[in-house]
Amino acid sequence: MSDSTFADAFGFFRAWLGNPLRVAAMLPSGRALSSLITSEISAETGPVVELGPGTGAFTRALIARGVAQEKLALIEYGSEFAVKLHHRFPRARTLWMDASRLKGVELFGGTPAGAVVSGLPVLSMPPRKVIAILDGAFAKLRPDGAFYQFTYGPTCPIPRALLDRLGLKATHIGRALANIPPAAVYRISRRQPRLAAGHPFHPRTAPDQA
Ligand SMILES: C[S@@+](CC[C@H](N)C(=O)[O-])C[C@H]1O[C@@H](n2cnc3c(N)ncnc32)[C@H](O)[C@@H]1O
Repeated sequence: MSDSTFADAFGFFRAWLGNPLRVAAMLPSGRALSSLITSEISAETGPVVELGPGTGAFTRALIARGVAQEKLALIEYGSEFAVKLHHRFPRARTLWMDASRLKGVELFGGTPAGAVVSGLPVLSMPPRKVIAILDGAFAKLRPDGAFYQFTYGPTCPIPRALLDRLGLKATHIGRALANIPPAAVYRISRRQPRLAAGHPFHPRTAPDQA
């Protein structure tokens, strides 16, 4: 274990001791989970929003996949993590805020994001907060954009009723058995991609005339 990995693990553990519900894990995610949750993302994805980056395990994986720091918005509620992220990824935009308030924030000069990567502990959040997070995230995403969420639980951490209510669907994309503890990743996407504002509308290809 390198010095910085050890320092991250120690800092993370201390943050968890101070606020177990918010931090929700005793250690940062490992390489297998970081690789899995970013596996569908590349430089072509466009801007990416990360929710709950902690010490930046997924951030590093996103950068390794070709996402430029300038195309990253890091939304972190823990001040101990937000300060570290700002110094570690100085060209990314780090926002010290609650992810459930995302809808009211302008990111990337209004350019929609291609993906949202979430390390948030959604299982320990009340449904109203989870709805606000998903609603805000999908307001920032392109029509074909996706929200990636990991869980230590046996099923998708977003309940089916809530997905139905928001017109979303969840697809299991894999398991990281080498993570401590093992985790699964889900891709949450719109059931029917809606037209983006300003998206050109072609009457000849409209669904009822095809
Ligand atoms: C399970 S840790 C994941 C950290 C990191 N993504 C990883 O995988 O190592 C959860 C992270 O979400 C942050 N968090 C929890 N609630 C949040 C909220 N409402 N808004 C933004 N960040 C939040 C915590 O401070 C912590 O950094």
